[in-house]
Amino acid sequence: MARSDTEQLDTSYQTEALIAEDIDAYLEKHQHKSMLRFITCGSVDDGKSTLIGRLLYDSKMIFEDQLAALEADSKKVGTQGQEIDFALLVDGLAAEREQGITIDVAYRFFATEKRKFIVADTPGHEQYTRNMITGASTADLAIILIDARQGILTQTRRHSYLAHLIGIKNLVVAVNKMDLVGYDQAVYDKIIADYAKFATEIGIENFTPIPISGLAGDNITSVSPNTPWYDGPDLVAHLETVELTNTVNRTKPLRMPVQWVNRPNLDFRGFSGQIASGTIKPGDEVRVLPSGRRSSVKSIVTMDGELDEAVAGQSVTLVLADEIDCSRGDVIAAADAPPQTADQFETTLVWMDENEMLPGRSYWMKIGSQMVSATVQTPKYQINVNNMEQLAAKTLELNGIGVAELATDRQIVFEPYADNRDLGGFILIDKLTNATVAAGMLHFCLRRSQNVHWQAVDVDRNAHALQKNQEPRVVWFTGLSGSGKSTIANMVEKRLHALGKHSFLLDGDNVRHGLNRDLGFTDADRVENIRRIGEVARLMADAGLIVLTAFISPFRAERQLVRSMLPEGEFFEVFVDTPLEVAEERDVKGLYKKARAGELKNFTGIDSDYEVPRNPEIRIDTTRTSPEEAAELIVNKITGIWSYTI
Ligand code: ADX
Repeated sequence: MARSDTEQLDTSYQTEALIAEDIDAYLEKHQHKSMLRFITCGSVDDGKSTLIGRLLYDSKMIFEDQLAALEADSKKVGTQGQEIDFALLVDGLAAEREQGITIDVAYRFFATEKRKFIVADTPGHEQYTRNMITGASTADLAIILIDARQGILTQTRRHSYLAHLIGIKNLVVAVNKMDLVGYDQAVYDKIIADYAKFATEIGIENFTPIPISGLAGDNITSVSPNTPWYDGPDLVAHLETVELTNTVNRTKPLRMPVQWVNRPNLDFRGFSGQIASGTIKPGDEVRVLPSGRRSSVKSIVTMDGELDEAVAGQSVTLVLADEIDCSRGDVIAAADAPPQTADQFETTLVWMDENEMLPGRSYWMKIGSQMVSATVQTPKYQINVNNMEQLAAKTLELNGIGVAELATDRQIVFEPYADNRDLGGFILIDKLTNATVAAGMLHFCLRRSQNVHWQAVDVDRNAHALQKNQEPRVVWFTGLSGSGKSTIANMVEKRLHALGKHSFLLDGDNVRHGLNRDLGFTDADRVENIRRIGEVARLMADAGLIVLTAFISPFRAERQLVRSMLPEGEFFEVFVDTPLEVAEERDVKGLYKKARAGELKNFTGIDSDYEVPRNPEIRIDTTRTSPEEAAELIVNKITGIWSYTI
């Protein structure tokens, strides 16, 4: 094949499937070797596929039949002086992956005499930040490929930044295609000097530069005579000797997130998980967090029997000397050096979902084996990954990276990501779709999260409610604009008032003139609107009131959030079900007409979503029920529940 600039070929080679069949036998053979995980960053143009193909080929991870086919195919397309085009091995898969946005990272295995390797191959284009982050999150090392003819490109900076962001300590800067620049030392030195300057700017402390040619095989498995001026190791020798993250982590204090409590019978209770850092021996003093209870290790159990010692990276079951509370999500740590707990943090987030981030929305946060609810604030800034510039941002979109504060609904055990990826790295999950929407890194906890405590008040919510001779309620009206929420809520309040009940009506249009004056009608603003109203409603319920709210509140997630803030049975969702045509026909405020004319953007029901309640406590069909009837029905419904009061 004529060596094109893109090196990309249309081929249907599928090495993966064949490799997968033999993987068990393969892993068995190499099980006692240490394992290095790494990623390659660069695009097909940089010769990434050729390099990976070369590594697989040289380590004999290509099977006989594939090899024969590969040789035949390389002849067919014609390789200039080279017997095999290694890019053929991997590009077939790459082309396939690049079609969809939900592409995954391809993992390939190979081994040498000294070590085994897993390489995560991630697509190089800008929109695939998400994939690179996924591939990089467990990597010990990253190879940044630079085409010697091109020098440092925007994508080199982007990949280096991402690799650094994700906490990869070992960076190899491989200047590839040295054969095409006549193995010129000056070219190489210039690129490395440029890179060093940039690396310092973004906080990369050190990296290992190597001049290579993936195609010609220079400095890949042996030091090349073509680069006599280079006195470092060849690439594979470096990969074989670089220190593994787990080895580094062994020297840190013990942390083991508990994955599950192993209790096969009444005589055995052990805590299973993977050791994130440190070493542990029977007899060692430990502390269980967040409770802080202490005990010591009685034994360390594995599938292969009991151990005298276990280290970072190993999966074990710990049996403790005392019967203390410890469950999934807790962290077992060195008694004399426990990690911190907090509920507010500064974080870096990489947004991975098609739907933009909604500040104020509650997402599931998975950190180690802990699962909590978390809300993110408006980003402090977004980072342009091409030039590291900090930009103002209200939200993050797919592949966006930004720094934002995050609050969890309870204290979590954590460590800064830079110290511990397992206890500082997390993902956010959409509560309704279950999609992973972001990956994040905790930097530090905010001091206020440790210094601001809930004030325990003596006159509590029960006392407030008792004095009013009622139970607090939040009656949450939701429905389209013009559906009749305010009208009905008003009537309900009048009836309650007549019954001597203490109530308060929070209404959309009114709140938007004061407390929420700064908010408009984007999805993000609506989320924040409802979050604030939820907080106010909760405070009013704490004051013993019956709170009525009349807001479109178009999203299930926020209605659910408010529900979850209140004690069971206190929240009543009232769905004022008026079909769009009917609300539009009534058009009390003339807003539908404006929206249809394009004069009003993001209008609910027209060009902004309304998510219909799935299980409201009360549903009012306003085409069949008058506001008076609806009000009576609602009062009766809540009356029925206050059996002892009204
Ligand atoms: S919500 O979606 O954030 O819950 P909210 O109930 O506070 O909305 O405010 C809705 C009221 O604002 C509507 O009844 C209408 O009078 C007015 N409004 C102005 N612009 C819009 C819009 N784009 N979409 C919906 N309502 C709007």
